Amino acid sequence: MNKPRIDQDIVTRSVDQRVGELLGRMTLAEKIGQMNQVHSDGAGVDHLRGSIQSGRIGSVINEVDVETVNELQRIAVEESRLGIPLLIGRDVIHGFKTVMPIPLGQAATWNPEIVREAARAAACEAAASGVNWTFAPMIDISRDPRWGRIAESFGEDAHLTSALGAAMIRGFQGDKLTGRDSIAACAKHFAGYGACESGRDYAATNIPENELRNVYLPPFKAAVDAGVCSVMTSFSDLDGVPATANEFLLQQVLRDEWDFDGLVVSDWDSVRQLAIHGLTENDKASALAAVTAGVDMEMVGESYLHHLAELINEGRVDESMIDAMVSRILRVKVSLGLFEHPYTDPSTLPAIANADVMETARKAALQSVVLLKNDQQVLPLSSQQLKSLAIIGPLADAPYEQLGTWVFDGDERLSVTPLRAICDLIGESVNVRYVRAMKTSRSRASDEFDEAQQIALESDATILFLGEESILSGEAHCRADIDLPGDQADLVRHVAVPGKPVIAVIMAGRPLTLTNVLDHLDAILYAWHPGTMGGAAIADLLFGVESPSGKLPVTFPKMVGQIPIYYNQKNTGKPPSPETTVNIDSIDARAPQTSFGMTAFHLDAGYEPLFVFGHGLSYAEFEYRKLQLESPQIQLGDTLRVSAELTNRGEVAADEVVQCYIRDLIGSVTRPVKELKDFRRVRLVPGETREVTFELPTDKLAFHGRGGGSVVEPGAFHVWVGGTSETELRGEFRVISPTDEA
Ligand code: GLC
Repeated sequence: MNKPRIDQDIVTRSVDQRVGELLGRMTLAEKIGQMNQVHSDGAGVDHLRGSIQSGRIGSVINEVDVETVNELQRIAVEESRLGIPLLIGRDVIHGFKTVMPIPLGQAATWNPEIVREAARAAACEAAASGVNWTFAPMIDISRDPRWGRIAESFGEDAHLTSALGAAMIRGFQGDKLTGRDSIAACAKHFAGYGACESGRDYAATNIPENELRNVYLPPFKAAVDAGVCSVMTSFSDLDGVPATANEFLLQQVLRDEWDFDGLVVSDWDSVRQLAIHGLTENDKASALAAVTAGVDMEMVGESYLHHLAELINEGRVDESMIDAMVSRILRVKVSLGLFEHPYTDPSTLPAIANADVMETARKAALQSVVLLKNDQQVLPLSSQQLKSLAIIGPLADAPYEQLGTWVFDGDERLSVTPLRAICDLIGESVNVRYVRAMKTSRSRASDEFDEAQQIALESDATILFLGEESILSGEAHCRADIDLPGDQADLVRHVAVPGKPVIAVIMAGRPLTLTNVLDHLDAILYAWHPGTMGGAAIADLLFGVESPSGKLPVTFPKMVGQIPIYYNQKNTGKPPSPETTVNIDSIDARAPQTSFGMTAFHLDAGYEPLFVFGHGLSYAEFEYRKLQLESPQIQLGDTLRVSAELTNRGEVAADEVVQCYIRDLIGSVTRPVKELKDFRRVRLVPGETREVTFELPTDKLAFHGRGGGSVVEPGAFHVWVGGTSETELRGEFRVISPTDEA
């Protein structure tokens, strides 16, 4: 077949002109083909050749062999009638071959720049395999650690998730989308997926519009504002209408209110699943529901391919709608420069796992680890004073497990494990002894516990490496009990030798309920799943080469029964306090069955979490003083400057994440008791004092009010600055409207 020359001046015209010109030449079948993404699963070319030649495929997912990808592109460009290149999609969630900390760990850095840098590195490695579209960032607000996908989220807060999601998009898409190392990003899963009942993946979500708009939608708006190329619909049923067929989400919010002009892709086979939800009776009806709602491309399932033409011929779908959808798909392809450079030459891209990428992975891991507890300052350990060290546990030397979930392409051979890094760092001066003690994190066998106990007894200090294997979090991997799995708690009790420091380094894809081991541990470093360079970062933190600086992006419950528990909760009409709570063990059996004086708490858990959002200790000692407001009141439309003095009273230089929270005391709908509105990572040397200033324009105080729409309501506000959400350094201000002034 003579391949039509790509119209060379197509390169110089505007994107829309080029798209319009191309669309005008397409048959209906070719248009529908662009809306079809098929699964390759590394099965080579032959099973796709014919469909690509006939223009029935617009995108391929899960092919990462660069030669195969180039051949797929060659068939599309040189053997199909119009030569339209393919979108090559892959879940590049937190790295590619070099793996960065899981997104929940990256969130604990509270550092948009390192998140951007990590995504940039991932884009370079993925692009070298021919990938030009990733299905990330996942920006579902996650308040339920039972949910396996909390691991790939940025946690419970909309402001933090918005900032980090936008940073990840910038990282993936680069400075210019046509760059050979730029890949299109995809904000997912639109929307409300994280509210799945009981933290069970794919379960229904019931979210009042006010909550949806104030909590779950803002990160997606931030993603659209950051120029994300695509949005993925969620599997989940939102208030009775699954997201993949939800016109309110896909048309009213995304298109009409936000003016998003990128492409919307379904989740995996989520179009056909509409029938399983019970929304439609068959694939044809599902295709109609999804295309009518605004899903441009179907990920796998092929209901579009088999039914859209028929629906158009029956007059139930207008071809002008298809034209608009195909235009959005073509616009992404043109914007990526695929018509100019459809093929990948890995030699034009940075080497996989190069020094810069490994350094980014190390820095990200270093900043992601949260020091939860450090009694008697047992950390950092000193290799000068230490003569012997016991290292115990299933995750001390687990190169694959430390990578975490969603690592289809991660190369565990690149991993630096904690055991190896510690031995490299101090092995010459300290006698390091290692007992795995448990085959896996879930093992129920204690036959190695005595040996573990013995090396603990004989060593100056013990470090336990505990947590969850990678497979225990991620999609469809939810847990109803989020204690340390297996017999790990028994192992802790077995080796916790009185009088000697017992430190735990915990790797997990979620907050775990640590109440049953907390008192046996002098210090806890929470490393999430820290990725390829996790071991090197952990060793540097254990021995004080660097101070921990991570802060929790999600609340840690005492027990699973407290869930959902998160910092920015509503006050209720009966807020709890130490004075109004009663402990289940002390309540008098004859206590009056009255609600008088009772408040919102659990008899067996109280009302406070184990660790709060924003918590994270340091080897330095940060003191916050002198909260100052530029003015006690500001007018609507003005900006309030809030500053506080931060001093490092410690003996080491360290980073601190300074956080700024507000509370809107009165609203037309009730407002959270605290809301993160800004944050900044700063580094201070010992004795250094710095004034940290935040700017609060009144539009940052906006929320979706009772009357619908975004409002800033005049009235009284509190503002806090500190190193945790429970900071008590507080100021007060008023927002006034011009009429108030008069
Ligand atoms: C999965 C996930 C989605 C992912 C897609 C492709 O089921 O829900 O996040 O991007 O399928 O792997």
